[in-house]
Amino acid sequence: SARRSYEFIEVSEPRPGVGQITLNRPKALNALSSPLISELNTALRTFQASPTIAAVVLTGSERAFAAGADIKEMAPLTFSGAYTNSFIESWSELTTTLKKPLVAAVSGHALGGGCELALMADVLYCTATANFGQPEIKLGTIPGAGGSQRLTRAVGKSKAMELILTGKSFSGEEAERWGVAARVFPSYEALMEGALATAETIAGYSKVAVQAAKEVVNKSQDLPLRDGVEYERRLFHALFGSQDQKIGMKAFAEKKKAEWSHE
Ligand code: CAA
Repeated sequence: SARRSYEFIEVSEPRPGVGQITLNRPKALNALSSPLISELNTALRTFQASPTIAAVVLTGSERAFAAGADIKEMAPLTFSGAYTNSFIESWSELTTTLKKPLVAAVSGHALGGGCELALMADVLYCTATANFGQPEIKLGTIPGAGGSQRLTRAVGKSKAMELILTGKSFSGEEAERWGVAARVFPSYEALMEGALATAETIAGYSKVAVQAAKEVVNKSQDLPLRDGVEYERRLFHALFGSQDQKIGMKAFAEKKKAEWSHE
């Protein structure tokens, strides 16, 4: 199954159809070193390929989702080294490899690259006391894993500018109020229960429809409105070619629970 031996993450299948990846590098507050990202990408590829997994939860510990890219690894990097090795580019595999929905469950610190990783998720849940921020400016650098783009799209230019230029952090409660987080929870336990329940709900639907739904919402981030609406309509039309559309609508008419064929 998806279970392998990893050093910096833990992988499990806690609910039917749900895969969980837990960042587990407690000594460095889950700082996202290259070896950790490499393991994360392997786990994502394994879940993507798994016929039993339909949705994924990504979390850290109660104390830290992730405290950023690994500052000790980055400190000696040169421009030419970072540029020719496309440093950080492999982080984007999260957004390209995984066609299955990803729910991020954020507790504690989600700073720098940790905040950026959370912003890459499809659904972001957090605790009220979660500590988000893009503190790179304090280190003499800038966000490098999409923060200036994704945070700006999430909260608007003025607020993103303030956060990125001051490096000030924001709470889980603020994240929810500003639309960065879909929901906020009073405790780590409630957060994990909420994230797993949502992933399980998603995993109960037609895999074809779920993949299409994720794809069209993501298109809204890249396309002008007119093109995005047309893209959605094309995929909506295409789903009349799936068995699950017939199964879902027939079950509604018969007042029964749909038994998806996933075809
Ligand atoms: N990289 C490497 N190690 C880190 C780390 C990071 N991003 N964040 C924390 N650690 C390590 C600390 O060095 C410390 O290790 P030692 O015990 O060996 O000294 C250990 O984790 C525990 O950290 P603290 O003792 O600092 O814990 P704290 O509770 O006092 O503070 C914190 C917590 C406020 C999160 C603090 O650790 C901190 O400010 N971390 C750095 C946050 C940061 O600047 N992140 C942005 C990184 S840049 C980036 O991510 C670039 C990008 O856009 C891709």
